[in-house]
Amino acid sequence: MNDLRNLPGDPLDSVAIRAQFPVLQREIKGHRMAFLDSAASSQKPQRVIDSMSRFYETINANVHRGVYEISEQSTTAVEQARRDIARFIGAADAAEVVFTKNATESLNLVAGSWGRANLGPGDAIVLSMLEHHANIVPWHMLAAEKGFEIRWIPLTDDAQLDLSSLDTLLDGAKLVGVTAASNVTGTLTPVRRIADAAHQAGAVVCVDACQFVPHSRCDVEELGADFLAFSGHKMCGPTGIGVLWGRRTLLEEMPPFLGGGSMIRDVRLDGFTANEIPHKFEAGTPPIAEIIGLGEAVAFLEELGMDNVLAHEQAMSAYAFRTLTERFGERLTIHGPAEPGQRAGVMSFALGDVHPHDVSQILDEHGVAVRAGHHCAKPLMKELGVGATARASWYLYNTPDDVDALADALDATAEFFL
Ligand code: ALA
Repeated sequence: MNDLRNLPGDPLDSVAIRAQFPVLQREIKGHRMAFLDSAASSQKPQRVIDSMSRFYETINANVHRGVYEISEQSTTAVEQARRDIARFIGAADAAEVVFTKNATESLNLVAGSWGRANLGPGDAIVLSMLEHHANIVPWHMLAAEKGFEIRWIPLTDDAQLDLSSLDTLLDGAKLVGVTAASNVTGTLTPVRRIADAAHQAGAVVCVDACQFVPHSRCDVEELGADFLAFSGHKMCGPTGIGVLWGRRTLLEEMPPFLGGGSMIRDVRLDGFTANEIPHKFEAGTPPIAEIIGLGEAVAFLEELGMDNVLAHEQAMSAYAFRTLTERFGERLTIHGPAEPGQRAGVMSFALGDVHPHDVSQILDEHGVAVRAGHHCAKPLMKELGVGATARASWYLYNTPDDVDALADALDATAEFFL
């Protein structure tokens, strides 16, 4: 592996970082693995894996229940992780950090609790055409029940949000749901500008930050968000843990989402009284080891510095644009903004008319892992005029060698199909 190299001027030493990820040391079909599917799920450094094993080996016990040493220690570890995650996203109040299963559950919580309590016939919400199904389908489900209107922020030709009609769209709207970074094109969206306009129109702002929090410095106040959803597994943390951050005033007014243990203050034969936030939204035993693992992932990311992570990814995007355009010219279509500074490290592309699944299969023969499909963003696929794309995504452990491996494997694909 010592022939790997870093990009000149890159603030991250990705070669050294890569060495901390056990799975990246594997060979795939006789090739060094070029893992280019972190937008679907990132790999985990040894220290995150160790933190979870350590929990099971030393303090495994349920939280907020036992009055004995290891239960108190596991409760302390979970609440410390909550504070660390709050700091990581610029939230002043750790009680505003709700643990969920994943970002999808976080967004369903906003729709199922805030939406069900606040939306009805004659109301409207605004979503963008860049959204992942997780920020579309919960609203469709609720609209079918409650009869409100869904309006859509359109796109420019290079898959950026077209805000020219924003004021009209916002007229009378109660909520804006917008992704901070597209999982298909990597487009970074002007969340603050949208949030300012939404607040002026009296709407709350729900940000899908799944592809943003892992890749960029995030400050919920600077963004102007009212709700922010993200998943642990895309940011070097484990699967099974997501976060919903919400403003205290909103969370306190909202009804519970799931019922059961932990979320109550009192239960009687004639009803119940809900617990205070965040516990009101955390029914049942939480994913304790996963919360601790996510806390460790946050420590890892903070040590690297999120501005450095984004700078690395944008340098990788610039390198990929250069390499792939030089090599394939017009045979390759890259969807989304052409300027690497306008995107996170996600690149959807088409190689001639080769089906994305065929592209992905040949790349796999060369040890290159990308995702092919509609990426749970069918309305966006329609806007792009395609049924599916091949998508490469890079993260803090990817090096230019991964892009070179992608380019070489695409050469083999072109030779076979074109
Ligand atoms: N939302 C994830 C992706 O874009 C799974 O691949």
